[in-house]
Amino acid sequence: VYYAEKRILSALPKMIDKASESELKQGFETHFRETEHQVDRLDDVFQKLGVESKSVSCPAIDGIIEEAEDIAGDVSDKNVLDAALIAAAQAVEHYEIARYGTLIAWAKQLGYNDSANILAETLAEEKQTNQKLTNLAEKRINLQAAE
Ligand SMILES: [Fe+2]
Repeated sequence: VYYAEKRILSALPKMIDKASESELKQGFETHFRETEHQVDRLDDVFQKLGVESKSVSCPAIDGIIEEAEDIAGDVSDKNVLDAALIAAAQAVEHYEIARYGTLIAWAKQLGYNDSANILAETLAEEKQTNQKLTNLAEKRINLQAAE
């Protein structure tokens, strides 16, 4: 997840750039700042465990982000592009939700409750971001894209 969060940080500015709808753009900007804090939280967890922060490349997130970039490159209509960006961002959020869920369960199992609590803060943000994207898609952006 350390690698994934950093990869997401490097991808989000492009998504902010490509988003047209103002709430979507703002949502990506907010999540960029949240992601910076999420990296800091992971640094805290590494520190608590007494190990150096280390990225191990993750082909899953690379694939999800590559796909997002491909899709964004294929769509010219700005409303359809917004809907596609939401779809791509939700794939990222679901990936993160799966990973953090596992990490929290493992941290608890191993008795690292402080670390589990730190990771749970991030998990809550990822879930909230996913929910905001669903709301935005269903209330507005999918409708505009369909027109
Ligand atoms: Fe994240």
